[in-house]
Amino acid sequence: MWSVVLTLTLLLERFASALPVSTAVDLFQEIATTAPDHRFPIIVDHPLQPLGMSKSVISTSTIPTNNFYTNLFLGSRQQPAYLYPYSVWWSQGTNSDYGLAISHTTASQRVFGPNPSANPVEYYYNPVGICSVSFSAAEFDAGMTMSLGSPTAFAVNVTMAPSTSKYGHGRSLYIPLVQGTGFITGIYFNLRPRFNSLVGFQSLTEKTSPRNGIKKYVAKLYDGTSWAIYANVPNGQTFSLSRQSSSSIIASKDVYNVIVQIAKIVDGSESAYDAHAGKYAYHARVYGSAVGSVGTATINYWTLQANNAGNLLLWLLPHHVASMKKGALGFSIDSLSRGKMYAFSTNQIVLQEELPTGIQFEPWTSIPGQKATYTSNALKLITSAAASEIAEDFNAQTNLNSMYYAGKALDKFAMICYVAHSILKNAVMTANCLNKLKQSFALFANNKEIYPLYYDKTYKGIVSSAGILTGSSMADFGATYYNDHHFHYGYHIHTAAVIGYIDTALGGTWVKENKEYVNTLIRDVANPSDADPYFPFSRSFSWFHGHSMAKGLFESADGKDEESSSEDYHHAYAVKLWGQVSGDQSMEARGAMMLAVMRRAMNAYMLMNNTNTIQPQNFIGNKVSGILFENKADHTTYFGTDIQYIQGVHMLPITPASSYIRSPTFVGEEWNSLLSGVAPTLTDGWKGILYANLALYNPKSSYAFFSSSKFSRNYLDPGASLTWYLAYAAGVGGATS
Ligand SMILES: *[C@@H]1O[C@H](CO)[C@@H](O)[C@H](O)[C@H]1NC(C)=O
Ligand SMILES: *[C@@H]1O[C@H](CO)[C@@H](O)[C@H](O)[C@H]1NC(C)=O
Repeated sequence: MWSVVLTLTLLLERFASALPVSTAVDLFQEIATTAPDHRFPIIVDHPLQPLGMSKSVISTSTIPTNNFYTNLFLGSRQQPAYLYPYSVWWSQGTNSDYGLAISHTTASQRVFGPNPSANPVEYYYNPVGICSVSFSAAEFDAGMTMSLGSPTAFAVNVTMAPSTSKYGHGRSLYIPLVQGTGFITGIYFNLRPRFNSLVGFQSLTEKTSPRNGIKKYVAKLYDGTSWAIYANVPNGQTFSLSRQSSSSIIASKDVYNVIVQIAKIVDGSESAYDAHAGKYAYHARVYGSAVGSVGTATINYWTLQANNAGNLLLWLLPHHVASMKKGALGFSIDSLSRGKMYAFSTNQIVLQEELPTGIQFEPWTSIPGQKATYTSNALKLITSAAASEIAEDFNAQTNLNSMYYAGKALDKFAMICYVAHSILKNAVMTANCLNKLKQSFALFANNKEIYPLYYDKTYKGIVSSAGILTGSSMADFGATYYNDHHFHYGYHIHTAAVIGYIDTALGGTWVKENKEYVNTLIRDVANPSDADPYFPFSRSFSWFHGHSMAKGLFESADGKDEESSSEDYHHAYAVKLWGQVSGDQSMEARGAMMLAVMRRAMNAYMLMNNTNTIQPQNFIGNKVSGILFENKADHTTYFGTDIQYIQGVHMLPITPASSYIRSPTFVGEEWNSLLSGVAPTLTDGWKGILYANLALYNPKSSYAFFSSSKFSRNYLDPGASLTWYLAYAAGVGGATS
């Protein structure tokens, strides 16, 4: 529907192209809607099946694997869905509660550690499992079920039902969980509503009805918090609540089609809650366009109403607020690990950003006034590094049993080929490099690598076969179970963009020959359209959170997480460049939009400068969040606790996009407070990563390091080359002679 409107707009604007108006580019034009090519063998049943979804839901859905509610279909099914600012989970008998538990904790309840008085602390997390209020029913007991329908990027439809052997069919509680919504809404059919609390109900008071057809209650809990409970009662139904015990509130009888909405009362919220009760969301999708260098993406909520034709009340994250022109209600609530959320009266979240259209292949910096310094000395050094690195055995370094390590190595050689072509302008070196790289890449494009990629028909996605062929769910970082796809494929897509860029400049047809393969990788990680039935919309990048989530199908008490912000924006950058070389304007603009949104969100939550007011003040001294979970921030990594790992995994790979996300101010603060003492003492590849990152703040020192006669190749990570590090540092003004 939206694409029809946009297509029309596009046609009209093209028709009017003589006017001085920039053409609008649809940001979410589908890439393809056809089945993935036969080169990908099909797995009919993924080894880990989603629980609580019927066969028809599975076969007709593209099931998100990296978003906020996967805990509801994995493992015990008792871990939370992080429906910011709340967490909700299936309560299966704790304190005799059966239903959907809701928790909200405040910043003052956060646990800091391991030494809470340290500054910075290593981590903070929010206590979990404190059920403030749950949606339950008198009929719910250990025989109850929870099933899931319509799994999409921003929403899932939860259905709870009592034991059919005891109560028959036709009784249910629907709870559409939609990211950002101000109320949690449940609709009761033939059930006697009940609300339980682990904290305990001190009192229940019926309040003045805000509107005809709506009843309002306020439950006061023993922790001093108050929760509003609104019930939209159809004509002919009666509904009244009473406090049954300190842990339970119950309705007087079974009801049909009564819509109950629950929200925690915070300072200033109650009259806005009254005004917005009766309106709820059941779905959301994003659309948008780019006009000139301005991108606008709108998360549009699909709503239903009872007794209220107004707007939704939404909770917005700090990075949303910057481009919201209207609707602020003036009060906020603590989120779990992304600062405060702000109440808005709106059915849309509008993200508007200046697009980084100028960041392409050549070295780029956000340091003002820097110019490339390709002096003859610099060119000599770069040439000599390139000659030796192009002579390396590409196949030996890339024909690996890991999409991640293979991708890093392919991409390293791609950057070397780029330097040979565009900076050294050396035709012989370029041809040699490109031929070797095309051959190494072809192994993957033909799907003949050690663990080829499969198409998974359960969740719908291209997965590594490593987890199936080795029997280990953690093989290749859990890629068969949808961990880290954007990191892995990002390197491969970027490699393809560079090969395509050079090959096209030389008159070749490589892009056309490889488009299907590369586009399939992009459809897996960053499919832009729900018109594509073969992949979920935007598996990795959360248009709500503003960055990607790396964790796939693994049950997790602290929710989804991401470690490497830099490999995340590298994938968006790769999508932008592949859009550019393959002539897909929508993809190019979308990659740029993703980068712009990431820049704002990452600098709010993951890369913390000294004036960051979003993360706790006793945490920002870490400069990076480490692993940022939905419920926790932990300044560490999955592979060790050395400071160069923790900071460095947010740096790599260094590319023209790095300086766009990581400002000179931030990089300087991080270098001076955490790295300048450590970097000189290192002797492995992390040393090169830290000094390459230094070029984002001090290009001359970075260049001096890489051009020094004392430089050792031990300082190069397997994904890094001296050719590119020298070219980058010189390209942003680092060479002095
Ligand atoms: C949720 O699922 C139930 C059961 O399939 C269905 O009747 C209801 O219409 C769904 N609600 C929404 C909003 O999709
Ligand atoms: C520091 O980070 C905040 C939060 O993202 C941002 O608003 C501010 O502009 C940054 N300051 C500098 C000097 O980069």
